[in-house]
Formats: sequence, structure tokens, C-alpha cells
Amino acid sequence: MQRNYIRIVLLTAMALLTITVIVLLAKGSSEEIPEHVIQLEPSSEPIHIRVLFEQNPATEAQVSWTTTAEGDNHILYFDTEPRGGEASAYRFSSEDIHSGKYSLRPEEEGMDSWYHHAYMSNLEPNTSYYVMVETDESKSDEYYFITAPDDDRSVALLMGGDSRVGHSRIEEDNNRRKMNERMKQLFEEHPHILALAHTADYTNRAYWSELYWWLKDHYETTTASDNRLLPIIPSRGNHDLDVGFEEKFYWPNRENDFYYATQINSETVMIVLNTEISISGDQKDWLEQTLKEVRPNNRNVAVMFHKPLYPSVRAYDGSERRRRAWGPLLEEHGVDFVAVGHDHALKRTVPILNEKADPNGIVYIGDGGLGVSTREVVSDRWYLQSPGMTKSAYNVHFVEFNEDHIGITAFGMNGDVLDEFMIPADREERTSYYESILQAVSSR
Ligand SMILES: [Fe+2]
Repeated sequence: MQRNYIRIVLLTAMALLTITVIVLLAKGSSEEIPEHVIQLEPSSEPIHIRVLFEQNPATEAQVSWTTTAEGDNHILYFDTEPRGGEASAYRFSSEDIHSGKYSLRPEEEGMDSWYHHAYMSNLEPNTSYYVMVETDESKSDEYYFITAPDDDRSVALLMGGDSRVGHSRIEEDNNRRKMNERMKQLFEEHPHILALAHTADYTNRAYWSELYWWLKDHYETTTASDNRLLPIIPSRGNHDLDVGFEEKFYWPNRENDFYYATQINSETVMIVLNTEISISGDQKDWLEQTLKEVRPNNRNVAVMFHKPLYPSVRAYDGSERRRRAWGPLLEEHGVDFVAVGHDHALKRTVPILNEKADPNGIVYIGDGGLGVSTREVVSDRWYLQSPGMTKSAYNVHFVEFNEDHIGITAFGMNGDVLDEFMIPADREERTSYYESILQAVSSR
């Protein structure tokens, strides 16, 4: 009797175990492959053609592309005259290409791809470079980009970030592509736009199955109709920490960990910082030294990084460490404005000095809106009150560095002007202008 009972218990347990295993196996096999993980046919056809700028966009650039076959021979052809894609007609070519395989995660099997980075130096400032790339006889079309001027002519940047998108990632009409289309229109309307200065968070994770689509979207929807490429000035955010980011934005002998200063005309420097590594120590020392060097020699010193000092959405206290580490240095050296991302909304602060509105202060713009879902803003914060502003909206900033002022315009997805601001170059004029707009509000 007792033996039968034990047998029944054992058989029941085995049956339950078997059912559990079957259910788990069925669940595993029915787990859908995300739609952004696709099978790529091996091909030497160059895709994702793009340009990267870092410290010296007047004289250095990098042209990069992707192939889905490894290939043996990779060539960049270039010239300062259009050559219509006739390889033998280009005056210059380079076979010194940094190539390698993008790291794949196990679930990305079938997306095998290779990066190819062609670093260019000793370029002429303010010059169109016509480029064509080739892997094993497969040639791209001819594209061009324009190097930065080395004089004081007006130059502009598109500034924005947080272009990671969720489930609509691969849709032809996803919000990233819509914002890219907006940038393309601005790029075509304003040929003095030098580059997109990206305030980071390109994709949810820097995995190849996500970067693949980001690069495709950038190439397909920001390249001007005359084949001018929109160069990228990169920064790194909290969603960009995997190795794919370094493979995508490789730069030979990069000096620091994604913090650097870029000279975009003879009077304008933009300092790019990295909020994802130690914000004190080496980076802070470098920032202080760089500010000492560039501030006396440039009319405009802008700063860009990912996580804000004065957030429009997230907790104010959460930014305390960055405010304490960088705020006093930025103020001491009188940087002209700061652009950030991370909060997924639009903002422009009042001029801030010592954590208070002050006519001698710095204006901060942001906070990311190039495709990621927007967030509700906390509009009652002191630094977002008029003459500052904030709005839950997709946005990109068009920033123009002129001889007598910096012009800042925020455009929404449909091209609507969401904000306009002007920073006079002359310091006295700036202080009295800031004073007047602050007073106009307080006397209301
Ligand atoms: Fe972020």
C-alpha cells in the first residue's frame, strides 16, 4: 500500500516535471525574435556611409561605411572636385582603412557586419570633399562633405540628442526618421551647417542590431538631395556604453574617453564632455586646462554633454554632483551656453550663476528630442520660468555662431519654431540684455 502510494507520488512528480519542461520549451521556441534583428545577406556593397568630425573639423575627418561581407580590399577615393564616381579620376585615394567585425550578441546571429573607417588629415578648411568608397569592386555613389572654416565666417550646428526609438525602430515613419527629415531640410536650407552635434543616447543599447538601424536612418534621411553628408560630432550617453559605440565611432588614437574640444571656426570652440565616466579627476582637470587655453582665444565657447546640470524632467537633486563638479568652472570661464540631452523634452533656462538667475549667467539648452518618446516637463522649476522656457516636444536646435551674436532656434518635428533666443557676443551688451529680459519678467 505504502509502496503504491510512493509510486503514485513519484509518477505524479515526473508527470509534472515533464509538463513543466514541455511548457518551458514551448515558451522558449515561441519567444519572438525582435523585428530589429534581421538576417543580412553577405554583401560587399557599402552602406551606412557617413562622416565623423572630432577635434579639427577644418583639417580632419573620417569617412566610414559598413559591409555585410568581410571583403579584402577597402578604398576611399577623394577629391576637391566632383568626379562622378569614376575611380580613376580621383586625385587621392587611401587604402589605410581601419576595418573590423562589429561585435554581435548571441541573439543577433545572422547580422554579421564589418565597419570600415577611413581617417583623413591635412584637409583644406572650408572645402568640399567628394568621396567614394569601395569594398572588393563594389563602389558607393559619390558623396561630399564640407570641412569647417578656419576664419570667422558664420557657421552653424544642428544640436540634439536622444534619437533612440522603441518598438517603432524599423518603421519607415518612425519618430527618429521624422526628426532626421527635419534636420535634412534645415541642412539644405542652411548650407553653413557644419554638422550634427549629437548630445548622445543614439539607441537603447549600443548593440549592433540597434546601431544598424540608427546608421541606416542617419544615412537615408539626413543626407541632402545633392548627396552632401551631414557629419556627426559625437558625445556619449548612458545608453551608449556598449562596445558597439566604440566600433561605430572609432577614431584613431583618440586621446580621451569621448571628451574633447572641437574648433568649428577661428572664433568658436565647442567642448564635448562625457557624463558617463568620472566627472572629476582627469576629465575635470582637462576641462579646466582646456577652458584656460581656449577662452582667451575664442569669442564663442560652447559646451555639450549628455546629462543636464539643470534638468527639465528628472529630479534636481539627481544633478547635484555634476552641478558641483562642472558648474563653477563653466561659470568662472564664462562659457556662452551649454547644450545637453537625457530628459527627452525641450528647455532653455534663464541665465544662471551660482544656482540663481543672474544677468552674468549661462543659458542651458536641451534636453533631447530626436526620436525618443517625449516626457512631461516639470515646468515650475525656477530656472525654467520666463524668460526661460520648457515644453514636452520633439526638437532639434539650430545654433548659428555669428560675429555679433549666437542665434538659437528650436524646431519641432513639423518645422514649427518652438523657441528662439539670441546671445549677444559683446559681454556688456549681453549682460544688459539678460538684465532687461530678467527684469521684464520680475516687473510683470
Ligand atoms: Fe540618457
